[in-house]
Order: sequence, then C-alpha cells, then structure tokens
Amino acid sequence: MTDSKTSSTNSLLSKAWVYYEQGPITQILQQTSIPIDTELGLNELIIEIKAAALNPVDIQIGNIPQWIANWILFTGINKPKVPAADFSGIIYKIGSNVTKYKIGDEVFGLNFSLTGNGCLSQYIKLSENLPTLTHKPANLSHIEAAAIPLAFLTVYTALNNWGGFQNDDTTDQKVLILGASGGVGHIACQMARAMNKYVVGVCSTQNIEFVKQMGANEVIDYTTNDVVSASKEYGPYDIILDCVGGTQLIPYLNSDFLKSNQSIYLTIVGDKTSRGVMGGVASYIFTPAMVFRSLKSMIGLGPRYYCINLSLTEENTNQMVSMLKKGMIKPVIDSVFEFSNHVKQAYERLDTGRVKGKVVIDFDK
Ligand SMILES: NC(=O)c1ccc[n+]([C@@H]2O[C@H](COP(=O)([O-])OP(=O)(O)OC[C@H]3O[C@@H](n4cnc5c(N)ncnc54)[C@H](OP(=O)(O)O)[C@@H]3O)[C@@H](O)[C@H]2O)c1
Repeated sequence: MTDSKTSSTNSLLSKAWVYYEQGPITQILQQTSIPIDTELGLNELIIEIKAAALNPVDIQIGNIPQWIANWILFTGINKPKVPAADFSGIIYKIGSNVTKYKIGDEVFGLNFSLTGNGCLSQYIKLSENLPTLTHKPANLSHIEAAAIPLAFLTVYTALNNWGGFQNDDTTDQKVLILGASGGVGHIACQMARAMNKYVVGVCSTQNIEFVKQMGANEVIDYTTNDVVSASKEYGPYDIILDCVGGTQLIPYLNSDFLKSNQSIYLTIVGDKTSRGVMGGVASYIFTPAMVFRSLKSMIGLGPRYYCINLSLTEENTNQMVSMLKKGMIKPVIDSVFEFSNHVKQAYERLDTGRVKGKVVIDFDK
C-alpha cells in the first residue's frame, strides 16, 4: 500500500537539505525531497528524525575540494549529499531481524558520514548495529538529545580513553579546557566536573559566567589575559584539552603545564586555526610538525601530545546514556532553528564561531 509520503511501493519521499557540489555550506545547501529505499535489509531500520544538531565538521566536509570528493571519497557526482551527524528521532520501520528496537521507540545517536549520508533528512536508513545508535533517555527532549552525541563522544574519548580520567574521587586531578564555551567545550567542563576533577576553562569575557555554570573552578578570559601565563598560574595539569586549535601552548609543555610524564596535551583540532578546514587527525596530513611532535612523544623524547578524533564505540555510547540518565551531563542549546526553512541561518550562526552550547534543528517546525 502507498501513503502520501510514499513515492512508490518501495521508497519513501523524505524532505531533506542537500548539496550537489562542494563549497561553503550556507551557499550550496538547498531543500529537496530524496527517496529513501524502504526495502530493508534484515538488520536495517528507518528513523523519522525529530531533531538534528549541527557541528563545524559539517561545514568542513562541505569545503572538501571537489576533486577529493569525486576521486578519493567517491561521494558520487550529482548525487545529493545530506549534511549533519547528530540526530534524535523515532523508529519508523524495522527489518525482519531487528531485535534492539521496535517501531515507535525514541532513539538518538551519531551517524558520521564523509560521503553525504547525513541527518538533515526527515527519514534516514541505518543499521541497528550502528554502535552510536541507542535509545533516547526519557529525561531528554529530542532537541536536547540531538545536541549531545558528537560533543559527548569527543570529550569522553579525550578525557577517559586517552586521558584516563574516571568517574572517581580523585579530586587532585586537573584539566585545562581551551574553548570551554563551545559545543564540545561546554560538555568537557561538565564531564570533568562530574568526574570530580579540577576544571580550568578558557573563554571570552561574555562566556565567563556560562563556563562557571558548566562546572569550571577557574575561568581564564582569553580576551583580557595572556593565556600562557594565566594557565601556568593554575597548572600543572593532568590533561590539557584543546578545542580551539593553534600552537599557543605548545612551546610550554614542561612541568609548569603537564604534571607528570603521564599527563597529556590533547587537541581535537590540530595546529590549524581556520574553522573551515577539516581538523582532528586529518591535520597530521598537512602538518609535519604535528607528526614529529607525536612521534617524539611516542618514543618518550617529548611531552605527551596527540591530535585525536572521537571514538565511535558502543562502550562510549553506553557511557553517554548512563551519564545522561544520571543527570551528570546536560546539553545547553545555543539556538533552535526550523527545519522547514531556517537551516542555512542555523549554519550561519554556527559559522560565527561564537556559539554557546549547540545549534539544533527542529524537524517539527
Ligand atoms: N577531532 C574530533 O573528533 C573533533 C570532534 C568535535 C569537534 N572537533 C573540532 O573542534 C573544534 C570545536 O568544535 P565545537 O563544536 O566546540 O565548535 P564551536 O561550538 O563552534 O566552538 C565555538 C566556541 O569556540 C570558542 N572560541 C573561539 N576562539 C577561542 C579561543 N581563542 N579561545 C577559547 N575559546 C574560543 C567560542 O567562545 P568565545 O565566543 O568565548 O570566543 C565559542 O564558544 C572545531 O574545529 C571542530 O571541528 C573535532
């Protein structure tokens, strides 16, 4: 049987924001309808999206040069590419072997795609085995749940998987968070504080109170202070988490900044400072200095330094749900934009680099 949303018996028409050619996302995005194949594999399911959160990486993927998209990522010429990775929604249809979910279940998660299989679409098709798909905690709305996965998984990867922070009573551990007010930084402050760590956050004047509310014990205003000397005053640290990029602290990673030879400088951006260019481990490709720094650290000839990406594991996803259910982490929404016609404005807001928390798209509007 076909319904009004169905373009044929085996596909569903989904309103979506897409782009066909690479470029600045606010210029290339357009609204259209894309068919979603409703013939499901045994473990596949279709989710009706209710909310999606935007991330700088959406903009960075749009900016990948056309030749790389065509000939290295094989994104498909003239194929519509849908951006955005963070979502929350409701299970709409399931394959015959799906056991973890049933129709109507509220779910959220992260569907990271370099090839344009993103979430700014009313419906998406995924596998039930995607490690970053899970049930949405009842204490969060879809808007709140969508705001969490990419930021949480990035921070947990850094603080726990790399930095070794646990949720324990070790209150003498200290973390410095550069970019403490942004989408990732505000979760980093909350998580470190929830793990009983001493938190020093760096942000601009307008965000000082916000960063304190997020859990920072000390706040450094980078617009009125020399970040090097101010952060040295509160140091040394067990972890320095850089969510901004650049090399400002790199020459100073001595015992004033890193507490022991187990202490670590982690950047999720790299040496680059341009927001439009892909960062994380991709920065190693273009920045030999970062490669040498990490190699020196690996062989014990320099301070521990790594540029990292978020780890998309089921274990980290389970930690996310657990901490959310206990109220240890609460999303902060910078702004909500309508899916129907304000997605470009939402990306413009994110692209200012001045957001406080997350920018979210509401699919009911
Ligand atoms: N490697 C990975 O796996 C990974 C994962 C997630 C994100 N990332 C990258 O991490 C970066 C941050 O992501 P995000 O989502 O947090 O971005 P975002 O939300 O756009 O970050 C905006 C925040 O950055 C702050 N900021 C800008 N310049 C600053 C400076 N010099 N010092 C301190 N704070 C500064 C701003 O605060 P003020 O207004 O106070 O300046 C604002 O609150 C992006 O480049 C993103 O691509 C990487």
